Amino acid sequence: MIVAVDGPTASGKGTIARALGAHFGLPVLDTGLLYRAVGYQTQLDHGDPDDADDALAACDFPDSLFDDPALRYESTGSLASRVSIHPAVRRALFQRQVDFANQPGGAVLDGRDIGTVIAPHADAKLFVTATPEERARRRHAEMLGRGVGVTYDAVLADIYARDARDTGRVDAPLRRAADALLLDNTALDRDAGIAAAIAFVEGKVGKRG
Ligand code: C5P
Repeated sequence: MIVAVDGPTASGKGTIARALGAHFGLPVLDTGLLYRAVGYQTQLDHGDPDDADDALAACDFPDSLFDDPALRYESTGSLASRVSIHPAVRRALFQRQVDFANQPGGAVLDGRDIGTVIAPHADAKLFVTATPEERARRRHAEMLGRGVGVTYDAVLADIYARDARDTGRVDAPLRRAADALLLDNTALDRDAGIAAAIAFVEGKVGKRG
C-alpha cells in the first residue's frame, strides 16, 4: 500500500510518516530531503538557488550528501523551498519519488505534492497541518533544545515565508488532495496525532502490520 503524507513546514508530517512506516512495516521517504540536497548542492557549487539552470545542475548531487548534517539546518530548508519552485528541478526529482512509491509492498512518502502529483493513486492520503503560530512554537522549542539561538519571531517569519512559497508556486503547489484526510494537530500532542493517522490508514486499507 502507498501512503501519502503532505503538509506545510513544521506541521509534524515527518513524525507521522515515520510512525506510519514503523506501524505498517513500510519504507519511508522524506522527499523534503531531496529538495534540501539540491538546495545545499547549489550553495556548494556557488550557484544561485533562484536560477533554474544552477538549481538543475545541482540535481546531480552525490548520495553521500544525505549524510551531511547541514541538510537539516533551517537555512537549508529555505534553500530547498527556493530551488523547489523550478519545474525543471521537480521533473528531475520526479522519477526517483515515483519509483520509491511504487516499489513492491508499498511505501510511505512525506512532502508537499505526494497525494497530488507523485502518488495520486495512493491508498491513503493525509494532509497534516497546524496553525503557523503552533508550528513556530514547536520548531522554536526544538531549535532551542538543540542549542540553536533564534527568536520565536524569526522562526514564525520563516514559516510564513516558506508557506507562501510552497503554496504560491505554479508547479505542484502545496495543497490538500480532495481525498486526503485533513489532520489538524494544533491541539493534539505527538501520540494523539500518530494515533489519529494510524486509525485513518487502518480505516482505509484494513488492519495490517
Ligand atoms: O519538508 P521539508 O521542510 O524538508 O522541505 C523543504 C522544502 O522542500 C519545502 O519548503 C518545499 O519547498 C520543498 N519540497 C517540495 N516538495 C516536496 C518536499 C519538499 O517542494 N515533496
